[in-house]
Amino acid sequence: MKISVAILGATGYTGAELIRLIDAHPHFEIAHLGAHSQASKLAGEVLPGVGGHIAAMTLQPADALLPDEVELVFTALPHGAAAASVFTALEAGKKVVDLSADFRHKTHDVYRAAYGADHPHPELFNEAVYGLTEHVRDQVACARLVANPGCYPTSVLLPLIPLLKAGVIDTTSSIIIDSKSGTSGAGRSAKTDLLYCEINESVKAYGLPRHRHAWEMEEWALGFAGCETKVRFVPHILPMNRGMLSTLHLSGSNTASWFDLLQQAYAGEPFVKILPQGTLPSTAGISGSNRCDIGIALLSESEAVIVSCIDNLLKGAAGQAIQNANLMFGFDETTGLARHALWP
Ligand SMILES: NC(=O)c1ccc[n+]([C@@H]2O[C@H](COP(=O)([O-])OP(=O)(O)OC[C@H]3O[C@@H](n4cnc5c(N)ncnc54)[C@H](OP(=O)(O)O)[C@@H]3O)[C@@H](O)[C@H]2O)c1
Repeated sequence: MKISVAILGATGYTGAELIRLIDAHPHFEIAHLGAHSQASKLAGEVLPGVGGHIAAMTLQPADALLPDEVELVFTALPHGAAAASVFTALEAGKKVVDLSADFRHKTHDVYRAAYGADHPHPELFNEAVYGLTEHVRDQVACARLVANPGCYPTSVLLPLIPLLKAGVIDTTSSIIIDSKSGTSGAGRSAKTDLLYCEINESVKAYGLPRHRHAWEMEEWALGFAGCETKVRFVPHILPMNRGMLSTLHLSGSNTASWFDLLQQAYAGEPFVKILPQGTLPSTAGISGSNRCDIGIALLSESEAVIVSCIDNLLKGAAGQAIQNANLMFGFDETTGLARHALWP
């Protein structure tokens, strides 16, 4: 018997990635696909990448009742819209992995500061488990609601947490984080600044003075490592479909030990790869996989640069969501997930 799954927001980029992963998963099967403006069409009409019997499924309206047999719901909806669907699914007795930002923060004040709106269900903040899987496995396994981390925070927190925990990072001044993302990171809805002519042959920074993921990075650097940390985070958008690269400019002490600290922290981890010293990752090396590749370059005894790469739609979204869902249902967390990239 397979676990029946609903995907709300199935017509978006992360929703489409969830369809691809779940359709090939040995223990999950898709029973319900939810949409918004595209509801009532067939999935195959809206999603060029989808084939087989899934293409013939009708997209259900966002407020449609979830089938009784559904046990697990993925909400791949815009922040703000996700909260109500998460609440309804939990009330109906389902487990939920929310890919939006709606349950990633623990206080209403931080949510309001980052997202500029009141939250309709702050009573669920405490229950939600922030699912950076490698650091919170036991809690994810018992969770009813997992708040899947943001893509930029995943790429930044994975290298940062072990070093913060070891006390080797100087946190008296802001950590400079320079990140680049492919355009799928901005979702599928039409926006003028994402038109081909605006993106192609161009790189641009956005989200300044403070991108909303800066709050998430600081909250969870504190949550996982117990360190008050400030980040100066500047994201950029690049003319590529998928992939994310974050460069962390770090100062601290005893940088010669940092490679070993990272290696020890992630020894045996299926989806975190610490590259040999002096080797830096590329988005081509992780595209299509659920891996985070991390490389370190030592500049001096007190300064180093760390580069971290993920596929924003996989380890940054749908892949990590499946990793968490596997744990929630007692399956091996690697089930249905690729360690290897689509390369070349
Ligand atoms: N893209 C990434 O790399 C990435 C990474 C990590 C997390 N996330 C988060 O994951 C969520 C989904 O991202 P995405 O990139 O997949 O977005 P997207 O491509 O823009 O897709 C959004 C989906 O939500 C539906 N939708 C739009 N407005 C809605 C509303 N008011 N009520 C209900 N459904 C609505 C859309 O349906 P219709 O098409 O039918 O209108 C579509 O299925 C977002 O919260 C995003 O921040 C994205």
